Amino acid sequence: MRHSIALMDAADANTPLDAQQEHWQRILASSPDRFGTAASEPALAAVRAFRELGARRLLELGAGQGRDTLFFASHGLEVTALDYAESATAAISAKLAARGLSDRVRVLGHDLREPLPFPDGSFDACYSHMLYCMALTEAQLARLSTEILRVLRPGGLNVYTARSTSDPDWGQGTHHGENLYESGGFIVHFLSDEAIERLTEGYELVSVERFEEGPLPRRLVRVTMRRPD
Ligand SMILES: C[S@@+](CC[C@H](N)C(=O)[O-])C[C@H]1O[C@@H](n2cnc3c(N)ncnc32)[C@H](O)[C@@H]1O
Repeated sequence: MRHSIALMDAADANTPLDAQQEHWQRILASSPDRFGTAASEPALAAVRAFRELGARRLLELGAGQGRDTLFFASHGLEVTALDYAESATAAISAKLAARGLSDRVRVLGHDLREPLPFPDGSFDACYSHMLYCMALTEAQLARLSTEILRVLRPGGLNVYTARSTSDPDWGQGTHHGENLYESGGFIVHFLSDEAIERLTEGYELVSVERFEEGPLPRRLVRVTMRRPD
């Protein structure tokens, strides 16, 4: 596991959006399976799409504590899992070691506001569950989507989920610009249909599916986009 990014102290962070890194670091250190141990519903759907594509090399972004990472690895995918919270990458590495799956997964510490550290065309697919709704502005999401496009091979898929503007938490708490709201210490970017459309730039849009997760329930979208051949 490589974790080269320096963690900022919340007090040193320049903006509330920057301070989210330290927040996630603390939250994920305090509870080993914050999002549960079972694979998420979008991971179950994505693995079927990846199988149809004949995908082997998968990039997972904002992997958290690895509930989906372990699932993808157990389905034979070669996973590269990225997260900027060291407590997240450490948790994934420990779980992989306990299951003897360490050689199937590369775990890296990386801030996704920075360019992806991979050559062009390195992956058949990219997957992220609730990363596109983190403390990232739309400009940062657009740069990330363009980076994902670069590291996908032609015909490769980018499957992401995000909380949407129809989520019950949309508009609650402190507003941080665009559709970013902070509640209970978490800043969430709720994606509108228009933002989803703008983030397809350079891709072919395959599908936008709506689903719910958790007790609130959170209202999310699962977006599948393809790098044109
Ligand atoms: C809502 S959690 C989801 C975790 C995991 N995908 C799951 O569903 O169990 C979002 C994850 O994204 C990570 N994250 C947020 N912003 C990030 C950034 N700029 N770069 C890298 N990781 C980030 C957080 O540390 C956290 O682990």
